[in-house]
Amino acid sequence: MLDMHLIRDDLNALYDLAPNPGLAAEMAPIYARMSRVISPADWAIHAPYVAAINALKRERNATILAHNYMTPEIFHGIADVVGDSLQLAIEATRTEAEVIVQCGVHFMAETSKILNPAKTVLMPDMAAGCSLADSITAEGVAEMRARYPGAPVVSYVNTTAEVKAASDICCTSSNAVQIIRALEAETIIMTPDKYLAQNVAAQVPEKRIVWWDGSCIVHEQYTAQDIREFRAWNPGTRIIAHPECPPDVVAEADFSGSTAGILGYVSAERPERAMLVTECSMASNIADAHPDVEFIGPCNMCPFMKKITLEKILWSLHSMTTQIEVEPSIAGRARLAVQRMIDLSAKEA
Ligand code: 13P
Ligand code: SF4
Repeated sequence: MLDMHLIRDDLNALYDLAPNPGLAAEMAPIYARMSRVISPADWAIHAPYVAAINALKRERNATILAHNYMTPEIFHGIADVVGDSLQLAIEATRTEAEVIVQCGVHFMAETSKILNPAKTVLMPDMAAGCSLADSITAEGVAEMRARYPGAPVVSYVNTTAEVKAASDICCTSSNAVQIIRALEAETIIMTPDKYLAQNVAAQVPEKRIVWWDGSCIVHEQYTAQDIREFRAWNPGTRIIAHPECPPDVVAEADFSGSTAGILGYVSAERPERAMLVTECSMASNIADAHPDVEFIGPCNMCPFMKKITLEKILWSLHSMTTQIEVEPSIAGRARLAVQRMIDLSAKEA
């Protein structure tokens, strides 16, 4: 566990991290990307960290890959690449930097390491897990194979390296339908997200999809009743749900897609009002680029994603910790499953 008192003392001894309105004003072009959702007072607190991280990442030849659920000061302030799980995995294969700082959750950092065994992959807080990744082990995959002999296993990228290594191919929420359609088998095992599996099954009725009983603690909280009531109280609002939501929630929505899909839909449709049925930072991160869209409605916070902060990122780059390691024989098999996914989605696209 990180000792934030010690870390704070060390960082303050080395960097000038006091709130700095002058520096904040100098960095106005960066602030302009998030001024709708971050107050000027908060920006004066963030600006010294953003400046220190951006300088240190050049010194270390590092690139920062940030998921769409990172807070706006991370997403707009320091990230070199932002995106959904698939985009981040693809970018991890393309980067020329020596160091990758993964701003997201642990399975994303593991995926980057699996794809780049020779690079240093840093995780700012190892406690940033995921309820889906925690829900299944390689033994669980073996159990499913025993129950459905011969059926291929498609595992969501929200899994550990061991689970990926035990699977035939991975998928993300943006390519799950494509991957399932492209497989020849009639019966397909999907792990670990039962709701993603059920949402895919609704779109690919010609296949028999069986699933593991995992779920995302953020998206499982939404109910169809919530959505119906929200729509009745806010007529005309476009409701956009992530496919980790239960199928009856997705059925009530106007659109469902991965976090990149959500951004694509909002950019193309430019609705007057939108409710994003997903993690809270998603709407915050796209708010400034869509000033004509009013984002309303409740959102849910992912406690794992929110473990990643500017302070921990600065410490991670400064101390070059914590470096992700994946046992080579597991990494090799996991890489096959991730690479098959990347290759198949490129081909199908
Ligand atoms: P995507 O960004 O791939 O849609 O995934 C969402 C998610 O919950 C990642 O943890
Ligand atoms: Fe895992 Fe859900 Fe958090 Fe994504 S939002 S990291 S799936 S718990």
